[in-house]
Parts: sequence; structure tokens; C-alpha cells
Amino acid sequence: MCASISGFSKLSKSKKIDWIVKTYFSEQEEAKKVIKQYWNNNIALQNLHDEFIENTITNYYLPFGVAPNFLINGKMHTIPMAIEESSVVAAASKAAKFWLERGGFKTKVISTTKIGQVHFMYHGDFKTLENFFNTVKPNLIADAKPITKNMEKRGGGILDIVLKDKTEDISGYYQLHATFETLDAMGANFINSCLEQFAKTFKTEAEKQLAKEIEIVMSILSNYVPDCLVRAEVSCKLEDLPQDDFNAEKFVQAVNIAKVEPYRAVTHNKGIMNGIDAVVLATGNDFRAIEAGVHAYASRNGKYSSLTDAKIEDGVFTFWMEIPLALGTVGGLTNLHPLVKLALELLHKPSARELMQIIAVAGLAQNFAALRSLTTTGIQEGHMKMHLMNILNQLQATDSEKKIIVEHFKKNTVTHSAVVEAYNNLKEKN
Ligand code: MEV
Repeated sequence: MCASISGFSKLSKSKKIDWIVKTYFSEQEEAKKVIKQYWNNNIALQNLHDEFIENTITNYYLPFGVAPNFLINGKMHTIPMAIEESSVVAAASKAAKFWLERGGFKTKVISTTKIGQVHFMYHGDFKTLENFFNTVKPNLIADAKPITKNMEKRGGGILDIVLKDKTEDISGYYQLHATFETLDAMGANFINSCLEQFAKTFKTEAEKQLAKEIEIVMSILSNYVPDCLVRAEVSCKLEDLPQDDFNAEKFVQAVNIAKVEPYRAVTHNKGIMNGIDAVVLATGNDFRAIEAGVHAYASRNGKYSSLTDAKIEDGVFTFWMEIPLALGTVGGLTNLHPLVKLALELLHKPSARELMQIIAVAGLAQNFAALRSLTTTGIQEGHMKMHLMNILNQLQATDSEKKIIVEHFKKNTVTHSAVVEAYNNLKEKN
């Protein structure tokens, strides 16, 4: 059935649910039951979640797991991860343990600059525009003072504003390209507020000083942050690597393939993002922003490529990654969502710089675990072992049935049909 409704957002939560189940479900009471079974009995907590977004009807759970044993710059961490994919936390934990025994992860923040732009149109003489911009630049910064003064007190603020001529791409198109330091805040609201103020001042002054009109198209931060960059690295002597289930040469080849082959690079980087997104989500950060920025960075040389690098030099295996991560540990969900607060406390209440390093490590560890499996046993062995539980849950196996079947698959290959067969055999026997 095709249905439209006006004033939906004004309805109460129960009226919204009534309309949805009546319009879209044949088993209306069953649908209501599913929706309501995810409500939290703690009314205050439920209200908090209801108000995060518009038209909330229930909660959508993701498992919140932890991966212990991460040694980063000599300090131990247990990393919180919110993710549904069965093998990710296990892989992170395994990689953490592997490197714990080999000196741990080394990380470094390279830069923390964020970017925002006012996009505008102007069809006059460029020199006149440039002179006007240079005259008005101090006013842009001065008028934004009410927004920037607290950030400046803490050591951040506007770093610079430059005029960019983009007329080669679109006739009459220019930008005010601004750079910011937002310290422990992700900074989206701060940057967007500054940009909208720049646009207002710029337009007002242009009306007084320029013969030709300026048309502001939009003012918005950029999620492409190639100068908000962090590096994570592991290395050890070749002789300290296990000989049976690790192949350093093949590992480096696998990275090199992802460097030159975009089809492989996308999957390779997807594996990195398994680790990154899970921690970004657990710590209340914006994974869409991170994803967009990271993939743009992976294409910075004109071709989509691997985010990680690996080499063997002078008998030493080194594996590393430089990645842009614009994160916050204050503002946004960080002091609103109880689990986000818990995740940050688990991480020793990190600064944004520290969180950049922890999250880069989660990404590198994930890629390490994936490439180690891919170049030795293949990915399915570990993956299907973890997936076994999902299949058993789909089959509604009891705890004792699960125990017997898990035992069986310690010696047998897990495939969907093999699990179904083992389950049916067990059922027949009992
Ligand atoms: C699966 O979620 C991620 C992997 O495909 C990553 C990779 O291939 O490197 C295992």
C-alpha cells in the first residue's frame, strides 16, 4: 500500500506507531511487539534517546564490545567497539595481543587543522575582489569574535581565511576557504557558525564597497580533512614474526596490490573502516563524516588506493597508516549518551588528539588481522567460526545445542549448509 501523511512529526509516539503498523503491517500486534520490546524501562533514558532524532519509535541496538591488550606508545588500552559484524572485535583483540608481544603500536598526530568554506558567486574584476577581500578580512575575523572567543581562550580558533578563485571550474565561482583549530571538539557547529558569520559580514561589506554583487551560495565545513592527520605504525624484526601462520612477503604483496588495484583497495580499506567506525560509533563520533573524509583521502593522488603501507627493510617488517580523522571528545553526544561517556572513561577520558591515535590503531589492527588471514588460511575460517553463532541463533538453537554444535565445528569446516545439517542431525537424534 502507498500511503502519505501530513503532520506525522506532531503525533505522539504511540500514535506514530499506530499509523505505521496499520499502514504497513498485516500482523499489526506482532509488529508493535517488536517495536516495543526494544524500549528501555528507564523512562529518562528512553526519553533521552527519543529526543536524539525526530520520529523515534524505538531503539536500534548494536553490540557494544571491547578489545583488550592494545599497547599504544607504551600505555595499555581496552578499546570499545560498537559493531554488528561478528569477526571484527575478535580480529582486533587478536591483532592487539600479537603486537603486545612485539612492542605494541606507535602513533603520532601529524596535524589537526579543519576546514570550512563560504561558496559564492561574483561576476566582476578579480583584482577588485581580491583588494576588497584583503580589506575586509580583519572584519570577518572580528565579527566572529563572539563565536570564537571561548575557543581562543582554550588555544583554538580561526587559523586563516583565504580567497580562492574557482572560475576555471565554474564561471564566477569563488570561495572563502577557512582553516580552524577546534581542539577537543569535532567542531562542526563552531566552524559552521563562524562560516555563516563570515558570509554575513562579507555580503554586507560587499554591498557597501563593491560595484558588482556577491551572491552567497552556501557556507559549510568540509569533511575532507587531509591536514587533520594521524599516523599509526607497528614494526618488528622478521625473526620475531611467527613462521607458521604469518607470511611477511605475502603480506607486503597484499598491501602493494591494494595500492595499485582499486577493486582490491576498496575492500582492503573497508576492513580498516570496520575497526575505525566501530570505535568512532562507540565514542559518539560521526562515522559518516569519518568515512567520507577517509575515502576522499584514499583517492588524493587521483586513484583510489590503500590507506596502509608495508615494507620489509634490513630484516625489519613495518606496517603503517596515515589517515585523516576529525574527532571530538567534548560536545555532541559525548556528554549526553551514557554509553559514550562510559566508552570515553574506559579510554582514560582521551583528548581528541589521543582519540585520533587510538582509532587509527583500531583501523591498522583490523587491516593487520585481515591481511594476516587472507595471506595464510584465508578469511573464511575465522569468519565462519564467528558466523556460526549467528546461524545457530537463526535456527533458534538452545544453549545446550549450541555447545554441542560449536564443539563439532572445532574439527569441521563451517558453512551455512553444514551448520543446518549438523543442527538437523542433532534434532533427529534427540
Ligand atoms: C570484511 O568485513 C573485511 C575484509 O574483507 C577486509 C579485507 O578483505 O581486507 C576481510
